[in-house]
Amino acid sequence: MFSSVTTAPIESTDKNALYAEIHRNLQAILNGETDPIANLANAAAILFWSLPAVNWAGFYLLKGPELVLGPFQGKIACVRIKLGQGVCGSAAAQHQTLVIPNVHEFPGHIACDSASNSEIVVPIIKNQALIGVLDIDSPEFARFDDTDKTELQKFGQILTAAI
Ligand code: SME
Repeated sequence: MFSSVTTAPIESTDKNALYAEIHRNLQAILNGETDPIANLANAAAILFWSLPAVNWAGFYLLKGPELVLGPFQGKIACVRIKLGQGVCGSAAAQHQTLVIPNVHEFPGHIACDSASNSEIVVPIIKNQALIGVLDIDSPEFARFDDTDKTELQKFGQILTAAI
C-alpha cells in the first residue's frame, strides 16, 4: 500500500513537479484510511521530509475558541493559540492563507523555534467549517511564494476529503 510513498527528500528543482509528487504521496497514504490523527501525522511527515528549507511542518486544530497543537514534525511547539493571535490564529480567524516573508515583522508572531524566519499558514476548511490550520516554518527569509500558497491549499483540499 505504501510502496509509492517517497520517504527520502524528493530531488527536484521544479517546484510544480515537487508538489505533484507531494500530492501523489498524500493521496497514496490517505487511500483507504480515514483516521484523522493518522492522516494528519503522515501529511505533516510528507511535507517536512519533502520540502526543502523547512524546520517545522504540522497542524493546529480548532477546539472551541482556540487552536490546539496537532500532529507535526519539528521542534516542540506552543500548544494553544487563540483565534486572532500570531500567524496561525490570524489565518484561522480570517479564513485566509497568510504568507509571511519575515516573521519578525509580523505583529504578535509566536516564536516556537528561534530558527524560523518565514512562515506560511493555510486554513483547513471542510464544508465551510474551519477544522484548523496547516503551518510551515522556514529558516530562510521569503521561503514561500504564490506557488507554495496555491499548492499547499490544494494539499489541504486533498486532506480534508479524508478527515
Ligand atoms: N509561529 C506561529 C506559531 C506556531 S509555530 O511556528 C509552530 C504563529 O505565530 O502563529
